[in-house]
Order: sequence, then structure tokens, then C-alpha cells
Amino acid sequence: MNIDNPFVQAPLAGVTDAAFRTVARKFHRGLLFTEMISAEGLCRANWKTLKYTEISSGHNPVVLQLVGRDPVRVALAAGMAEGLGIDGVDINAGCPQSRITGPGSGGALLKDPDRLCEMVRLVRKEVSIPVSVKMRLGYSKDESLALARRVQEAGADFITLHGRTVSMGFSGESDWAAISRVVGDLDIPVLANGDARTEAMAVGLLQRTGATGVMLGRGTRGRPDLPGAALSLFETGSFGRLSHSALFDTVMEHARLEGELFGYLAGMKRMRKHVTWYLKAAGRRFDSHEVYSLETAEGLGGLLERALFAKD
Ligand SMILES: Cc1cc2nc3c(=O)[nH]c(=O)nc-3n(C[C@H](O)[C@H](O)[C@H](O)COP(=O)(O)O)c2cc1C
Repeated sequence: MNIDNPFVQAPLAGVTDAAFRTVARKFHRGLLFTEMISAEGLCRANWKTLKYTEISSGHNPVVLQLVGRDPVRVALAAGMAEGLGIDGVDINAGCPQSRITGPGSGGALLKDPDRLCEMVRLVRKEVSIPVSVKMRLGYSKDESLALARRVQEAGADFITLHGRTVSMGFSGESDWAAISRVVGDLDIPVLANGDARTEAMAVGLLQRTGATGVMLGRGTRGRPDLPGAALSLFETGSFGRLSHSALFDTVMEHARLEGELFGYLAGMKRMRKHVTWYLKAAGRRFDSHEVYSLETAEGLGGLLERALFAKD
């Protein structure tokens, strides 16, 4: 992968769908991750799963993330995904949600490194594009050096490391020093992840860890432009924020694309959380009850007009 932006859009379930990725592309050329996609759902061609695999040519470079427990099925899904025109396949070995870890996938793979490494080996054999693993420091304690080394030996081309354990969920802080130790130890590139919510923190995480890149998660909600702005800060020392009229157009376009992907009403319902994030990130006041009853593009347009252009 030839990537000239070290700031990477994280996979966010329910957020980084094809519509979000199309919007994000207007602001930067950095790597985009799909949200986690069930390997089993892909193998069975489940129609809901297939919605999340939608890749348009403008999304490249894009990595598709798979979540699953069975190395053979994950490898099969990876082979199917390669045909979609993606640039890399990622294995989710970090998700702490019990519906994912319960069956032994996501973060639970860190409790079973043999299984995780078998998965990496089989996926590596199955596809000709880069294979990565998105992992945490360990399941309940920091075992990142040993785990990351094993993942590297199994054939991963790069890893993303979130500096929390799986048991921590989202509590506490991402341990940037632990990430830095892994960066220094591995031969393959590492993307550092966790708690870089702003442009300055993104640059800070890159510099503090010496990582190849930084993956940005929660900070990109309502800020699909964040990886581009972080790059601008890194390269030039300054960055701009979207004007209110650019933000208006961005949100309307995002809503149109969600509607195209999921259907008009379902798309508008999916948009409600995005609208909240966009307006919060822009520091605007709004009536959340009104946002959560949005059903039409006209309604959205009116709400945005009032929130963005009304005199304070
Ligand atoms: C709503 C939400 C959905 C997420 N979905 C995924 C996912 O599908 N796959 C994944 O590997 N991580 C997922 N994550 C974790 C993020 O990619 C990222 O590792 C984590 O939020 C820490 O980075 P941050 O502090 O920049 O947010 C999700 C996190 C959140 C908050």
C-alpha cells in the first residue's frame, strides 16, 4: 500500500459504512477501514453483511476488517473480500463487546494466540493483498510484546495497537508508552491507536510512539475530515476547520448517501447520531429531541440551517 497520510480512519461499527467513507474521501486520501464485518455472514452471503462490504472505487486505499472465530472461515471470507477491490484485510482481535468475545472472536482471540496466529497464517495464504491485525495490549494484562511478535511471525504485514487491554473496554487510558515499546520491537509497521481525539493529540501520538501511523476512532465521529486536518497540522503546523456552509453540504450529502445505501427512512434514522456528532463537534447548540425525530431531508435541512446559521 502506498499511503502518504499517516493518519488512518479507524473501523467504527455503525459509523464507517460506505456512505461515511465516501464523505471522508472528500477530505483526505488516507487509509480508510470498513467497520468489522462478520466473516461468517460474508461466507453465507448474508444480505445485511453484504451491505457493509460495499466498496466504491473512490474508497481506495481501503482495508476491510473481518471478525470471526474460525480461522478457516475467516480465510474463506478474506478470499471473497479480496475480490471486492480492497487494498488489505484486517483481523479484529480487539473488540471487547460480549456478543463478539462470547463466541471467541474479537478481543477473545488474544486469550488464544495459537488460534489468532493460525488465522493470520491462513488469511495470509489466501490473499495476495496486505494482511493486518487490529489488537489490544492483551486480554486482561499487557502482553503486547509477546503477542505482537507472534502475530508478526505468523505473517501479518502490519498491526494496529490500541493501548488498552480487552478487559478495560473503553475505561482508563490508552498506554502510549506500551505502544512505543512494541513499535521499537517489531520489524513490521505499527499503527498506534487510542485516545487521539484531536489534531494535536493525533500528531502527539505519532511523535510519542514513533509509529508508522496513527489510527483515529472516536474523534472522527462528526469529523470525517480529522485525518486530513491532522496531516495538515503535522506537515504545515496549522489546519483549518470546515466552514458552516461546507459542514451543511457535508451533512446533507452524508444523509443522501445513507439513504441510497439503506433506504430513505432507514438512512435518515442512521443519520440522527451523525447529526448529533457533527453539530457537537462544531460546537453548535441543537434540540436533541428534534434530531432524534428526523425523518426527511427537508427536516434535516431546516434543523441544520437553524443550528449552523442562526445568530447566537
Ligand atoms: C462506536 C464504536 C465502534 C467501533 N467499532 C469497531 C470495529 O468495528 N472494529 C474495530 O476494530 N474497532 C472498533 N472500535 C474501536 C476503534 O476502532 C478504536 O480502536 C477505539 O475507539 C480507540 O481509538 P479512539 O480512542 O481513537 O477512539 C469501535 C469503537 C467505537 C467507539
